[in-house]
Amino acid sequence: MNSRKVIAIDGYASSGKSTLAKMLSRHYHLLFIDSGALYRGVTLFALEKGFLKENELDQKAFSGALKGLSLRLEPDTGDLYLNGENVSQKIRFPRVSDHVSTIAALSVVREFLLLQQRQMAHENGLVMDGRDIGTVVFPNADHKFFFTARPEVRAQRRYEELKAQGQETTFKEVLNNLIHRDQTDSCREVAPLRKSDDAIEIDTSEVTTNQVFAHLIEKIEAK
Ligand code: DC
Repeated sequence: MNSRKVIAIDGYASSGKSTLAKMLSRHYHLLFIDSGALYRGVTLFALEKGFLKENELDQKAFSGALKGLSLRLEPDTGDLYLNGENVSQKIRFPRVSDHVSTIAALSVVREFLLLQQRQMAHENGLVMDGRDIGTVVFPNADHKFFFTARPEVRAQRRYEELKAQGQETTFKEVLNNLIHRDQTDSCREVAPLRKSDDAIEIDTSEVTTNQVFAHLIEKIEAK
């Protein structure tokens, strides 16, 4: 496969996008970018700097501060640096998950990150996962996939991941957060979560990671 190929994976929260995107990136020696991490980074910034307090956002001050924000994804480790600090763990905290969809719905945030995402594919190909990669960020991507899975299956996976990290949460909390985010992400005005007409839909509810991987490779090679 050409080293400048772009593979776009969109879909619902915790449907397996990042796991499969990472596997594809290794297989094809392409850069892997988890675009959700960027939105989480901006959300953490809004929370830590006090622009977002008790569900109230000071949008004017936040928009101004965004200009000075430096977000860097380390290509080898996938670690996210926010103004020089490694925030890879912090961005997964429930506090960030609870607010990320609100922040991601702001056009000022999407414009800020759109530019950065496109620049990442400037020199080399990549595999990027998110919500609007095949529809907005890379509408001309060489391969597009759209992941779905039943909410309970997705919540169970996410719950187990969070528990393994020692985070305190319940299955119900995780499920509610996923349902809420899916709803907000799908209904927003700017770049909503939706399947691109030319994307291949993949339901990961009843299949193993390796089965999905084999299926994706088959589709990519057949094109
Ligand atoms: O992939 P994730 O669940 O970590 O993403 C966190 C949130 O970021 C998600 O609920 C919506 C937002 N997001 C987005 O709006 N567009 C993207 N391309 C990626 C993520």
